[in-house]
Amino acid sequence: MAILTPTPAVIAEAARHLLAGGLVAFPTETVYGLGADATNSRAVANLYEVKGRPSFNPLIVHVADLATAERYALFDRRARYLASRLWPAPLTLVLKRRAEGGISDLVTAGLDSVAIRVPDHPVALQLLAAVGRPLAAPSANRSGRVSPTTAEHVEDEFGRSLAMILDGGRCPVGVESTVLDLSGEEPVLLRPGGITREIIEASIGPVATHGVPLASAPNLGVPLASPGMLSSHYAPRLPVRLGCDDPRPGEALLAFGPHEPGGFVAVMNLSRSGDLTEAAANLFAYLRALDQPEHSGIAVMPIPESGLGLAINDRLRRAAAPRG
Ligand code: TXA
Ligand code: MG
Repeated sequence: MAILTPTPAVIAEAARHLLAGGLVAFPTETVYGLGADATNSRAVANLYEVKGRPSFNPLIVHVADLATAERYALFDRRARYLASRLWPAPLTLVLKRRAEGGISDLVTAGLDSVAIRVPDHPVALQLLAAVGRPLAAPSANRSGRVSPTTAEHVEDEFGRSLAMILDGGRCPVGVESTVLDLSGEEPVLLRPGGITREIIEASIGPVATHGVPLASAPNLGVPLASPGMLSSHYAPRLPVRLGCDDPRPGEALLAFGPHEPGGFVAVMNLSRSGDLTEAAANLFAYLRALDQPEHSGIAVMPIPESGLGLAINDRLRRAAAPRG
């Protein structure tokens, strides 16, 4: 059985599997991650291979606490302030890497920076404590597809090819971590996510987005010049239309708020009360559920561009972007 209840014995076995260079899928507060020992290049190479991820796209390193993170990255005053106030949290910091830390060059794709975070999930933290190594963990889906928020989603992505999927139930946040670049002078929001821009700015002041609503590229966090250049990512199989409430024949609707327009063949509502936290938690599971061959496409109602709405709209724009 690939889906396992994370008892202490299972966590210990997962840690042994990771130390031997294996891959383990585990829950975080955002989405399920596919973990490998970040200091083991062979394990990381296998991770890229299994995900089908272009190897120039660097991975996030997960650690148990701030003190451990400081072994792998250089924290300035801003970074230490943010991390000590917010971690564990869905906030990834891109910082100058410490070359002596031993993180594989494959994890950072050869950059002199490293993306690092402390996840806010008991199973992830137990696994990190048991393995005693930093874990590189992208979302546990095949590259470009919808991120998994349950253990079953992970199994749907990889079938039986993964030996161990730790079951932590539904991920409470539901969208990936916010990626904040603090490696230069100016803080730059590279990916909107579970910690809102408002929370970050309340701690360290203005954060640049280079013209967000945002479309930082999934690769290297390079901001894109125009929305037309958005690369496809987080994509269901069906075509996705945004900002709609007019049905086309055979279309399913991803609704938001109390007023659901009629005429769609199926409807799932991210949040009837218009709550963005609830909507983020439901987003990927509902996109998967509506992605059925009997539907002609998925229409998505408008979602406000504030708070977690920034992360939700970012993922939806990529889901709707032209497929490459
Ligand atoms: O919530 C999350 O962050 C999940 C869970 C599993 O923790 N992980 C996740 O990892 O989303 P991944 O690998 O799918 O996303 C990594 C993001 C990408 O946008 C990547 O380009 C960016 O972080 N990134 C990683 N290292 C970077 C670096 N050194 N500089 C700039 N961006 C970097
Ligand atoms: Mg991903």
